[in-house]
Amino acid sequence: MSSTYKAVEVSAAGVLRVVERPISEPGPGQVRIRVEACGICHSDAATVTGTYPGLTLPRVPGHEVVGRVDALGSGVSRWKIGQRVGVGLIAGEDGTCEPCRRGDSVNCQNPVVSGVTVDGGYAEMMIAEARGLASIPDELSSAEAAPLLCAGITTYNALRNAGLRGGDLVAVQGIGGLGHLGIQFARHMGFYTVAIGRGGEKEKLAKDLGAQVYIDTAVGDAAALLQSMGGARAVLATAPSGDSMGSLVSGLAVRGKLIVLGVPRDQIHLNASPLVFGGRSVYGSLTGTAIDQEDTLAFSVLENIRPMIETAPLEQAADAYARMMQGKARFRMVLATKDLNHNDHA
Ligand SMILES: NC(=O)c1ccc[n+]([C@@H]2O[C@H](COP(=O)([O-])OP(=O)(O)OC[C@H]3O[C@@H](n4cnc5c(N)ncnc54)[C@H](OP(=O)(O)O)[C@@H]3O)[C@@H](O)[C@H]2O)c1
Ligand SMILES: [Zn+2]
Ligand SMILES: [Zn+2]
Repeated sequence: MSSTYKAVEVSAAGVLRVVERPISEPGPGQVRIRVEACGICHSDAATVTGTYPGLTLPRVPGHEVVGRVDALGSGVSRWKIGQRVGVGLIAGEDGTCEPCRRGDSVNCQNPVVSGVTVDGGYAEMMIAEARGLASIPDELSSAEAAPLLCAGITTYNALRNAGLRGGDLVAVQGIGGLGHLGIQFARHMGFYTVAIGRGGEKEKLAKDLGAQVYIDTAVGDAAALLQSMGGARAVLATAPSGDSMGSLVSGLAVRGKLIVLGVPRDQIHLNASPLVFGGRSVYGSLTGTAIDQEDTLAFSVLENIRPMIETAPLEQAADAYARMMQGKARFRMVLATKDLNHNDHA
């Protein structure tokens, strides 16, 4: 066996390059994973541009990782060699900070963050914390499962934790990696699902994914159109654009919620009136835990939900990343480290 593995690292801000690294052994409580697939999330931009708080370079990005356990560190009993596992963004909590002590580990104040505090999945191998792993069901190929570990869980958790009821009007703004899964989850959870995009190009895709209505903000006022339908009980805002989010509050029903999932660099501007008169609210939601990932994967199998993906070899990570950033991906680029049409290659 080779003593090195291939990885794609951010060597300096804006530079993704292929490197060979020595294979290392997992430490106590860790596993080494032979990566089979890794999705390219828009949040990877915070690593590629070197702007994620606390990040030091070089760093391997990637937090939608599926692979097989290849080596076990001491004290790891839950996972077996050869087992297929997934790793998301928040890939280990400290267990000691206040949110952790209150059982809110996704909001750990000192988390292991894949592709930020540790190297992520743009690589043939990755070392991960055993406590942060999700089990991957056999029904999903590695390339299909990967986007569910961030884009999927983020929209799934936001929807299921929003106190919604069947039949509620839910809008999903931004039809990219997160949004195209958000539309499917919303529809399959039983919500009247409205997709909000800019331009007409994605209307058919959004409807094929399950949206009853498509709003094109290039030709219509999204808030007014939502109000004409009775107002949204929730809007999942996934666009990486703060400017596009604030006005959506006026499209909410009384007590409706604008759930901020995108992390734009620009500000979100808010008008106080619809917040106060009608008790509307704005809050954020951060991905989820490993067990939430398993729930997301199980729901996707149950309802036959799959991400729409385009695969690329690891060596072409820089091009695939650029394609995502240019909004050309339909809808998730996945680095396929191994050929992955099937999940039965042990
Ligand atoms: N909360 C979390 O835990 C979490 C998890 C993952 C990602 N994120 C964040 O969520 C955001 C989306 O990530 P992603 O991976 O889904 O990105 P993506 O695949 O690049 O999709 C973003 C989509 O937003 C659309 N968009 C951009 N500006 C828009 C606007 N003004 N109005 C409507 N749509 C607009 C783009 O479509 P067009 O360009 O075709 O309009 C694009 O398809 C990023 O900011 C990312 O960092 C947050
Ligand atoms: Zn992500
Ligand atoms: Zn903690």
